[in-house]
Amino acid sequence: MGSRIPVWMLIAFSQVIVITAVTNQNDVAVLNAIKSSWQNLPPDWSGSDPCGSNWEGIKCTNSRVISLVLAGMGVKTNTIGDIPSLSQLEYLDLSNNKGIKAPLPPTIQNLKNLTTLILVGCNFFGPIPDSIGSLEQLVFLGLNNNSFTGNIPRSIGNLANLLWLDLTDNQLRGAIPVSNETDPGLDFLVKARHFHFANNQLSGVIPFRLFSSSMSLIHVLFNNNQLSGKIPSSMGLVDTLEAIRLDSNSLDGNMHRNITNLKRVGELYLSNNNLSGPFPNLIGMESLFYVDMSNNSFDASDIPTWFSLPSLTTILMDKTQLQGEIPSDVFQPQLQRLGLSNNALNGTLDVGNSYRSDLIVDLTNNSIGDFTQKSEYNMNLILANNPLCEGGTTGRYCSARNPNLPNGFPSNNNCPPVRCPSDKILSPNCACTHPYTGTIYFLSYSFSNLENSTYYMLLHDALISAFRSSQLPVESISVSNARVNEFSYLQYTLHVFPSGQDFFTRSTISSIGTVINRQNLFSLPQFGPLFFLDDSYCCFPGNKSSNHGIIIGAAVGGCVILLLIALAITYAIYQKRNATRAKHSNPFASWALDNGSIVGGVPQLKGARWCSFEELKRCTNNFSEENLIGSGGYGQVYKGTLDSGHVVAIKRAQQGSLQGAHEFKTEIELLSRIHHKNVVALVGFCYEQGEQMLIYEYISNGTLKDNLTGKAGMRLDWVKRLRAALDSAKGLTYMHELANPPIIHRDIKSTNILLDDNLIAKVADFGLSKLLGDDSKGYVSTQVKGTLGYMDPEYYMTQQLTEKSDVYSFGVVLLELLTARSPIHKGKFIVKEVNEAIGKSGDLNGLYRILDPSLGSSQNLGGLTEFLNLAMSCVRDSGVERPKMGEVVREIERIIDLAVLSLDAESASSFLSQNKGEVGDLYHPYGDSVSDVSSLTLPFETELRR
Ligand SMILES: *[C@@H]1O[C@H](CO)[C@@H](O)[C@H](O)[C@H]1NC(C)=O
Ligand SMILES: *[C@@H]1O[C@H](CO)[C@@H](O)[C@H](O)[C@H]1NC(C)=O
Ligand SMILES: *[C@@H]1O[C@H](CO)[C@@H](O)[C@H](O)[C@H]1NC(C)=O
Ligand SMILES: *[C@@H]1O[C@H](CO)[C@@H](O)[C@H](O)[C@H]1NC(C)=O
Ligand SMILES: *[C@@H]1O[C@H](CO)[C@@H](O)[C@H](O)[C@H]1NC(C)=O
Repeated sequence: MGSRIPVWMLIAFSQVIVITAVTNQNDVAVLNAIKSSWQNLPPDWSGSDPCGSNWEGIKCTNSRVISLVLAGMGVKTNTIGDIPSLSQLEYLDLSNNKGIKAPLPPTIQNLKNLTTLILVGCNFFGPIPDSIGSLEQLVFLGLNNNSFTGNIPRSIGNLANLLWLDLTDNQLRGAIPVSNETDPGLDFLVKARHFHFANNQLSGVIPFRLFSSSMSLIHVLFNNNQLSGKIPSSMGLVDTLEAIRLDSNSLDGNMHRNITNLKRVGELYLSNNNLSGPFPNLIGMESLFYVDMSNNSFDASDIPTWFSLPSLTTILMDKTQLQGEIPSDVFQPQLQRLGLSNNALNGTLDVGNSYRSDLIVDLTNNSIGDFTQKSEYNMNLILANNPLCEGGTTGRYCSARNPNLPNGFPSNNNCPPVRCPSDKILSPNCACTHPYTGTIYFLSYSFSNLENSTYYMLLHDALISAFRSSQLPVESISVSNARVNEFSYLQYTLHVFPSGQDFFTRSTISSIGTVINRQNLFSLPQFGPLFFLDDSYCCFPGNKSSNHGIIIGAAVGGCVILLLIALAITYAIYQKRNATRAKHSNPFASWALDNGSIVGGVPQLKGARWCSFEELKRCTNNFSEENLIGSGGYGQVYKGTLDSGHVVAIKRAQQGSLQGAHEFKTEIELLSRIHHKNVVALVGFCYEQGEQMLIYEYISNGTLKDNLTGKAGMRLDWVKRLRAALDSAKGLTYMHELANPPIIHRDIKSTNILLDDNLIAKVADFGLSKLLGDDSKGYVSTQVKGTLGYMDPEYYMTQQLTEKSDVYSFGVVLLELLTARSPIHKGKFIVKEVNEAIGKSGDLNGLYRILDPSLGSSQNLGGLTEFLNLAMSCVRDSGVERPKMGEVVREIERIIDLAVLSLDAESASSFLSQNKGEVGDLYHPYGDSVSDVSSLTLPFETELRR
């Protein structure tokens, strides 16, 4: 019998390939063509089934490639080839591959389903094709840091869903296109939050027509171009604006009052232009943190009163014809930097006594004659080239001081004195590895004090939590070397250290780049929008250009093979011994018929293992009460720790729920084939001494229901609820669309969705219905308790089970997420209740009455309407009208984007209202906001009144 084991292992492995050879032939052909013409593609691009064999960088749905991410992999090509023929592609990220020296072909228009196009930091050249305007689904367009030439295509105005348009750092010329009677223009992009056009050669005036009150822009970054003329007063109509950068152009004239009254603007950069007229009065910009108007031609003026606005961290007014004395109330406690060099300021400097000790003041080249706090002051002050410092005076304020920048965060100073091999770097956790390095550039930011390590910490924490929530194998990161570059971009060096091994795989490098550049997983209110340019990674496993990588790769590969062989041998020996020992300790003995052969052949398991009754008895303390964590019609669930140390949940079927040997075997075969991070994994089974037990990984953080009602000790906030919905939807999609054969769960409910340590949701309890026996009658009669509210009425009436029954149950779970109520609450059914609540008033007002109050103010729940619509479409009476789970996943992803974007605005406004006028740094919130609730009610109404 021992000799048979390796044979079924082989069968099992070969089946992986047979079962999953499903990739659409067109997509296979495209990828193969790419493979033959690009260099440095991942070595695991081999075989004939990219989707089934998990080619790095590729994601599929329904056998079609929907995502291609090759960021930072060092790929080289002179053409993007046939990518436009991957017609179902939704997500394309080729960022940080300097070796892509290619034009963007007009055929890009074939990617009709593309929502995200990120090509940051490559060498794309030539014009941006006009046809890009037909990618109507596009939400995120990042073409920055390439060599694109020509004009900005006016067709971009047709991208009605666009939120993010980044063209920074190219060689684009000509005017900013706006619409006329016949042609579209960028003024059509009323949903867009970001216009990032900096560092190009754009010229002409900024069109008046570009801005209107229906726009939702928060960032207008046009710095470092050749724009001329006046700043259009229409900009003052966009009251959502938070950051404006028009510095380093040739703008002239004075600023219209409508602009200087924009209430949400936090950063205003107008330096290096020819602005003239009266010195601007910004007293109406009540959220202003950072203002730079240096080097303009304003009329001579005294220091204006708005310099003492309590929000300002940074005032830069070098060379702006300021004169007279500096009032001491300019030195407010939150002010971090005051740059007033090359003006005509005079009199005696008095800095008062409420300034911060880390304040930087530059008054070089003025006419200041004296200084009240001459002998005792505590800030970084420069008064060189003032009468005060002439004639041999040597106060320390007479020369510049070098900034005292922190070393980086966290540092590895606490490590024992190890010296890494020359090509590795010591991580903050004291490991010598090959980090992925690069530079993050922030385009506008609300602070100036780079010497304060608090900002290092904030940046570090935001990034590390984004990597963690994406489950990337990152051991640690460090940020260092803060500096402001020639374009006034704030930049940091980033080191990302690998965990588990001393180098990163291609897919991890790629994910790191995409997490940063797509920037929807973290919010950095103080720092603003960013882009990430990497240093090409040294050490991909199997990279021909790196001997080191080959050695590591070969060593690892070799080890794995040796290990597998060793395991197979050990297992064979083990089985042989067992076979000659007691019969019942053979895992398959129970399936043996009298003649010794196994019912229907030996079970074919992937990953799950056999456990002896004795081990399970021991690890559950003889199935004691203390270890009991759940029970139901099928039997009990116990918590236990296997001999291997794994903590598991053991589901023990009770008499009456036992299945026949054949059914049980089929079931464990089925369950052991399920491997997905959002599905609770089967780790083993027990089938002996008349017992049938299924052993699952133990999930620590309780059920979704407990986390909604507060029973688990916490209540999930809106974004966490959305993430839980997304995770479980992904798990279900996998079951429905990727598992072979497809599996219908039949019992989706909030107690069957579990949350792990990282709040990743996993769908549990596949196989429950099977355990109960396969006839649906038994299922209904036993399951009626507790889960009645989740059951698809169509299934109930017709007894016809389809995937859409799970969709219905999932819709009920979505409604639970909104209301935190049980599906049947005081005798009322949740679907009916929600329908009534919103039906009467026809808008969201009704919903607010039954919304979970712990979600907080509903106006701030970005994507709420969309989420409600989605839930209601899942619980439609007729199964065929409900969406598929794959569609549900995509919609939730979109909703999360909306929610995360609005989150920043929300935390911002609450932060502002709490902190206005108080001592301390005011952080400026970036990110997007959903403020226009009225625009949300329209689709909502049409949806629900159908
Ligand atoms: C885009 O995706 C949808 C489903 O999300 C599909 O129905 C449609 O056919 C796709 N369009 C194209 C052009 O492939
Ligand atoms: C609109 O602009 C386009 C492109 O500049 C131009 O060709 C066209 O003649 C204009 N149409 C009108 C009605 O001005
Ligand atoms: C300035 O704003 C007011 C009110 O918002 C508006 O009526 C007016 O037309 C604006 N002026 C200009 C020149 O845009
Ligand atoms: C400072 O400059 C202003 C304006 O140029 C002038 O009126 C004033 O007399 C000067 N004060 C001193 C003390 O020089
Ligand atoms: C650094 O910044 C933080 C946050 O703004 C502030 O609380 C802290 O006092 C600052 N540290 C120093 C040394 O100024």
